[in-house]
Amino acid sequence: MKNKNILIVVTGSIAAYKACEVVRLLRKEGANVQVMMSKSAMEFVGKTTFAALTDNEVITEIFPKTPKAGLEHIEMAIELDAIVVIPATANTICKVANGVADDVVSTTLSVCEQPTLFAPAMNFRMWQNPATLEAVEKLRKKGSIVLDPEEGQLASLHEGEGRLPELIDILNGIRSLFEIPLPLQGKKVLVTAGPTREAIDPVRFISNRSSGKMGYSLAEKAKDFGAEVSLISGPVSLSPIPEVHMLVVETAEEMAVAVKNNCSDADYLFMVAAVSDYSPADPPDKKIKRDSENKSIELKPALDILKSIKGKTKGKIIAFALETHDGEVEAQRKLVEKGADFIILNYANEKGAGFESSTNRVTIFSKSGNQIELKKDRKDRIAKKIIEYILNN
Ligand SMILES: Cc1cc2nc3c(=O)[nH]c(=O)nc-3n(C[C@H](O)[C@H](O)[C@H](O)COP(=O)(O)O)c2cc1C
Repeated sequence: MKNKNILIVVTGSIAAYKACEVVRLLRKEGANVQVMMSKSAMEFVGKTTFAALTDNEVITEIFPKTPKAGLEHIEMAIELDAIVVIPATANTICKVANGVADDVVSTTLSVCEQPTLFAPAMNFRMWQNPATLEAVEKLRKKGSIVLDPEEGQLASLHEGEGRLPELIDILNGIRSLFEIPLPLQGKKVLVTAGPTREAIDPVRFISNRSSGKMGYSLAEKAKDFGAEVSLISGPVSLSPIPEVHMLVVETAEEMAVAVKNNCSDADYLFMVAAVSDYSPADPPDKKIKRDSENKSIELKPALDILKSIKGKTKGKIIAFALETHDGEVEAQRKLVEKGADFIILNYANEKGAGFESSTNRVTIFSKSGNQIELKKDRKDRIAKKIIEYILNN
């Protein structure tokens, strides 16, 4: 949504504060955001919040006291790419559907012909009111997207349909206004990323050079493609990804538990984490003191996470194999032994590939016997190509 000009219209619902998060996420994706608020909306959230979040003045008046008096909505009609009404009250929905233009919000919405999305939030009786339902029907016929509100506990503590739709549905709705393809919409994706740490004693550990960049890139791309993404991450120095459900773990055992708990309903599992193959057999609970003797640490094999979820998920399993030699043989072996649908081979000892690097070169091996190499590229682009390949094979 980079460089798109989006008008966020906030109306007077208790859910108005959730519009702040949507504005923040759109800005993070590079969109230019302008906020307009109805008088009632300002009873719920102050315009200073939106001004700070957008770095733009907030439009609240149809007849402001400045010389440009009231023409903002006309100018915007020319420059805007899309309009998102969040939350959309019953009042505004009904007014706009029926051509009422008696304040800055309804006037703007009646002037502008840009793709428009309404994210309603209201009491379940207001949603079921025939006047509201009829208005929603009219707006949809006119070509606007009106999301269905969620069912659940409302602000009034009543149960029913009327909650603001989930953020992922609102953001996917906005993406669809721009006809951004969403091949993973409605799908659940689980990604593991980063290294694990296995304690030698309370202050030392065994780990590896994984930066988490490949897994994080895959999680972010899957999210951009519309998926609901959970990312199980080992200790990395990357920022959490907005809109992605993050689970932070440290050890191979913790990662195994997190994968087990989240694998059953995943449609795609990208097992990218560099999970330790071994862990110290019996780490002491006190720090090992320095002395002049040689020391050895007995290692026991860690649980093979991939093998452990074999048969426990109906999702497609895409597993990474990081090798230093005999990569193709290893990849074919893992494909058979570990029950993966795809193995993605990359090399640790290749410049600009594997661990730590911002670029990668991978070869995808599929269960059906196909094989394709993705030439060296930035990890985010490699991630996109991997997902596209998986979806088409
Ligand atoms: C505490 C409180 C919460 C409200 N929440 C909602 C709501 O979630 N949805 C809604 O349609 N109206 C809600 N209303 C009513 C609207 O604020 C009212 O209909 C107002 O006229 C809407 O104006 P607007 O559409 O110009 O923002 C609420 C009112 C109050 C006092």
